[in-house]
Amino acid sequence: MYSRIAGTGRCLPKKVVTNADLEKTVDTTDEWIRTRTGIERRHIVSDGETTGSLCEGAAREAMAAAGVGPDDIDLIIVGTTTPDQVFPNMGCLLQERLGIHGCPAFSLEAACTGFIYALSVGDQFVLSGKSRNALIIGGETLSNIVDWNDRATCVLFGDGAGAVVLQPSEEAGILSTHLHADGAYKDLLYFEGGVGKGRDTIAGCAVQMKGNEVFRVAVNTLGAIVEETLEANKMTRSDLDWLIPHQANIRIIKATAKKLGMSMDQVVQTVQDHGNTSTASVPMALDVAVRDGQIKRGDMLLLEAFGGGFTWGSALVRY
Ligand code: COA
Repeated sequence: MYSRIAGTGRCLPKKVVTNADLEKTVDTTDEWIRTRTGIERRHIVSDGETTGSLCEGAAREAMAAAGVGPDDIDLIIVGTTTPDQVFPNMGCLLQERLGIHGCPAFSLEAACTGFIYALSVGDQFVLSGKSRNALIIGGETLSNIVDWNDRATCVLFGDGAGAVVLQPSEEAGILSTHLHADGAYKDLLYFEGGVGKGRDTIAGCAVQMKGNEVFRVAVNTLGAIVEETLEANKMTRSDLDWLIPHQANIRIIKATAKKLGMSMDQVVQTVQDHGNTSTASVPMALDVAVRDGQIKRGDMLLLEAFGGGFTWGSALVRY
């Protein structure tokens, strides 16, 4: 028995902010952003859009694609670092939006790796027979915790949500997931504000990152986890049809593809249009490639992500 991705969905905010727009607000250039990151534009929430509303949009699309309704869903897991409120958790808030009652609903926080963590947990529920229609989502509004005057970070991030519905299947399916974390790296990428720091901290905090060091560790770590994933499944690089990497930086993506000996034609790329949407990036990239017909049923996919914590993870999926 496997869990299989029965449907995918995504939701992006209406407002698009281009590099040219950012040139007007911070000391940067379109050329710098493109060459260092590959990003050309990103979507940013406005007019009452929140992590919850984006998750709802993505969830509804994924449910429609899977051919299931609210009454069928028996598990909700939302990966997010930017929930609408501290509690009820984002899973419950989404459950209420979707009109679903009674099933377990929770959020988990693993920064940019949140969706891979959520997918792995959802996979265990399906494999153990505890879920037949698991809604797994990565949703984020990092624009709410970025300093829009800090050119080193504000040009990098965007908002969005991506979702999948997992169902049990005799055909593969998720073949394996691999999760890791190392809190020793907590000072390289973080947002410090929070309950433990006192009620007033959040307003004065913003995402902080030692970009160079994050870059170096990310390249090495992602190289290692793709090898780990292939080895665990006794596969070689040539067995892969598609790499669906976390969309943080085109240079990190290229380095991972090179390590795998994969052509960039086999790599789903959305970083140019979405920026780094943290935990939403992998499920949104998956949905883009499924809906535009690049990824087809039966293709072998390697999903991977890396983020604050550090956390990192991968999933090998026969789509
Ligand atoms: N526009 C113009 N110049 C900028 C800039 C911007 N938006 N941001 C930084 N700079 C400047 C710096 O001030 C620095 O200037 P200096 O040399 O005069 O001091 C110069 O550009 C180089 O900065 P540096 O940080 O060394 O650039 P970089 O080549 O490392 O690129 C990142 C910066 C952030 C793009 C890169 O480090 C990166 O992508 N890191 C990984 C980030 C990531 O993926 N994070 C999320 C993980 S989930």
